Amino acid sequence: MSNDTTPYETEVIIGCDHAAYPLKETIKIFLESKGVKVVDAGCHGPESVNYPDFAKEVAGKVSDGTHPKGILLCGTGLGMSMAANRFKGVRAALVSDGFSARMSRMHNNSNILVMGARVIGESLALDLVRIWMETPFEGGRHLDRIQMFESF
Ligand code: RB5
Repeated sequence: MSNDTTPYETEVIIGCDHAAYPLKETIKIFLESKGVKVVDAGCHGPESVNYPDFAKEVAGKVSDGTHPKGILLCGTGLGMSMAANRFKGVRAALVSDGFSARMSRMHNNSNILVMGARVIGESLALDLVRIWMETPFEGGRHLDRIQMFESF
């Protein structure tokens, strides 16, 4: 497992369902303005889709190391986080406040940020993305702890 503490990855894979399509587009623009390469796994419009398809695409590619970090968005964030956390090595954090976004990086080394577009507004979501991207993992005892559940 990587103990990488480098903030602001240069590349992020992002996926959403129809409920969060507009938010995904906004987050893409925000990240690209920060120089982050955004790999868009869809969906690509407001038509109804099944969130597990996009969770699988994003979490699968974080799990196999293709991308260091991912962002998943749906209506509540619940389905995306449940699906993403089934993948080995994925630590998907569903957050809706800044403290949890920061701690999910510092203590849990979360590698997928999950948010609910029907739960939080756009400006809070962008704040959470910024916090999550900028916060490094502390490592040390927290690395030991996340390694404890890697084999579950
Ligand atoms: C779609 O209606 C909704 O169920 C989905 O976006 C998400 O909230 C699932 O957890």
